[in-house]
Amino acid sequence: MKYNLKTEEKKVVKEIDKAKKLHREGVKGLRGKLWRAFRDRSPESYVESLRGVDAFFSHVRKLPKKQIIDLGTGTARAIHGLSEGLMGEGLSFKGIDVVRPDQLNDLIGNEHFIETSVEELGGIDDESCGGLLSVAGALSYTASIPLSILSIDRVLVPGGILKASLSPGLGNKKWPYNERNRQIIDWLKSLGYDVSLKKVYLKKANGARIPNVVLIAIKPPLQETSAKELLEKDLESWEKQMGQISEERRK
Ligand SMILES: C[S@@+](CC[C@H](N)C(=O)[O-])C[C@H]1O[C@@H](n2cnc3c(N)ncnc32)[C@H](O)[C@@H]1O
Repeated sequence: MKYNLKTEEKKVVKEIDKAKKLHREGVKGLRGKLWRAFRDRSPESYVESLRGVDAFFSHVRKLPKKQIIDLGTGTARAIHGLSEGLMGEGLSFKGIDVVRPDQLNDLIGNEHFIETSVEELGGIDDESCGGLLSVAGALSYTASIPLSILSIDRVLVPGGILKASLSPGLGNKKWPYNERNRQIIDWLKSLGYDVSLKKVYLKKANGARIPNVVLIAIKPPLQETSAKELLEKDLESWEKQMGQISEERRK
């Protein structure tokens, strides 16, 4: 795919500075509470948004690298909960974000957090991750999809997997292919990834149903289980998985 990466990098440096400022002011400012709610999802909410993590985690357990990184982790509450549950056994978890959350020490702990952008993934070694996830996270806000996908491809081990919950974009008739999602899919496919998508609805407390896209992409070479099969497998049991996590957390 044709792209001037140098121009892209310059654009991104500016955009990331803007994003950092926005998030810092948001956290401290009047909108603090509301803002925090969007950066502090629960483990159950991750399972709901991703329509399950169990089959995804099981796939990563079979790979030579068992590290999973949450791209745009916010307060890291969700990833912390998932790392403590039965489904997370045998895996190690980290979160990255352009903003270091205040609560971090009480949650996943500093050693599990890296302050970096998805475009750069600084401090993360090449082919060191079996899995990456993003829930309304860095992939939804990135200033450069090309740079993000190239970084993702750099850190994923062959056969590694990306699972993301993305907004379809309001008012877009060609759902789920709004311009951002279309670019993400095109870039992944151009690098030979096996990509599968599912339109889902997230239920809000007031009963509203919010359309969303779950994307799963597996880095080549082809794996025993296809992206579509992995997606379907978790779709069959995501509600049970949510129940299991809630029960574990109550104990
Ligand atoms: C809506 S919040 C979601 C946070 C978390 N995933 C959750 O659901 O609680 C989006 C997060 O993405 C982070 N973010 C935005 N752009 C990013 C980038 N380019 N690289 C890394 N993180 C980014 C923001 O700082 C913010 O914490």
